[in-house]
Amino acid sequence: MFDDDDLRCFSMLIEAPRNAEILGSVKIYDVQKVLKLESSELETPLLRCITNEEIEEVLERLVVIIPVKNEKINLLDGVLRAIPQKCKIIVVSNSSRMKQDLFKMEEDVVRRFYRVTKHPIMLIHQKDPGMAISYKEVGFSSILDGDGLVRDGKAEGMVTGLLIAKYLKKDFVGFIDADNYFPGAVNEYVRDYAAGLCMSKSPYAMIRLHWKHKPKIVKRKLYFKKWGRVSEITNRYLNLLLANQTGFETDIIKTGNAGEHAMTMKLASIMNFSTGYSIEPYQLIYLLEEFGRGETEYAEAANAGIEVFQIETLNPHLHEEKGEKHVKGMMMDSLSTIFHSRLTNKYLKTRIIEELKSNKVVESDKEIKKNLIIPSIKDIDGKKFMKKLEESSDTFVNFLWNGN
Ligand code: GDP
Ligand code: CO
Repeated sequence: MFDDDDLRCFSMLIEAPRNAEILGSVKIYDVQKVLKLESSELETPLLRCITNEEIEEVLERLVVIIPVKNEKINLLDGVLRAIPQKCKIIVVSNSSRMKQDLFKMEEDVVRRFYRVTKHPIMLIHQKDPGMAISYKEVGFSSILDGDGLVRDGKAEGMVTGLLIAKYLKKDFVGFIDADNYFPGAVNEYVRDYAAGLCMSKSPYAMIRLHWKHKPKIVKRKLYFKKWGRVSEITNRYLNLLLANQTGFETDIIKTGNAGEHAMTMKLASIMNFSTGYSIEPYQLIYLLEEFGRGETEYAEAANAGIEVFQIETLNPHLHEEKGEKHVKGMMMDSLSTIFHSRLTNKYLKTRIIEELKSNKVVESDKEIKKNLIIPSIKDIDGKKFMKKLEESSDTFVNFLWNGN
């Protein structure tokens, strides 16, 4: 076994950021590559060296939220097994309960996982009527649909996870998708989050992951793609929006659609979240709108500064491919969130319309609808929400506070 001194000897090596863009209180750092997952300690001005001891300390304060909807059960199983033991796990599922009860399969996996590993974990279904009752109890009805249940959507699942993390009084929260093929990659992502959180000087920080590569099958061969089509487009327009504000052209944003991201709870609690596929790009828009101009109601956050780190993983990212419809939906939602930002000028709007038309996503600008926004959870009483959830839910599997 290692003692504390031994732990200190091993470190993650990450490039120091070469550059950062600053707008008001928001600082967005350039991509930093993970150079080595475990190394001896090295200190040079071009490297950040984060000791295992520092990483372990953050992991203890980090909750991992896994949104899941109709994924292959083996993928979820692999993802769970990859999460470092110190992080509690919250799985929010919106999987089908119709013909084949996929949620039941997820429940079996979670129970078995806990029985074997004793890893603190909870699982809940997004459409559980008890969840809607709990949201009503705390006055957060904007997350409900016409039928009085929680709306479909990854964002709604993520916000639910956040509320539970708030109740747990954890300092950090990280999101991990359930459709990842490589548990080893997932393990790295969580450790990258921790490394990023160690680098931040502000209690208002966000870590967004950038893939080194995304493997695809091209002409029956494995090809390691650097950029996804939607990501490239989303990043281009986010950078144009930023350049519009600063007056300097930039390509700093490389994680516009970063599904894998982490935040300090302080930041997550004050942010509004957009829905559909726009949740991730909107996070950057929200920060620039709220903190880029000095007009915010959050003086403490503005004074501390908001730091956005972008970390390039060592592992490639292989997840479930969901087809052309998914790609178009992602482009639509991502670009409409930029289109409707109050920071977007006429020129940028015209370019976005052209982009969406040329990709056959829309035929006219009238189709570029505003995405629904979920307000922040800052005023919600997490304890009241959880108490009601425990009382009224029938899908809640809770191994979170069983002796942990
Ligand atoms: P992409 O990887 O960003 O292209 O999007 P995915 O379709 O893989 O979605 C990301 C994660 O969110 C996956 O784990 C999905 O299973 C999950 N997800 C998608 N829709 C929902 C939903 O309505 N509710 C919940 N809780 N999770 C969802
Ligand atoms: Co995915």
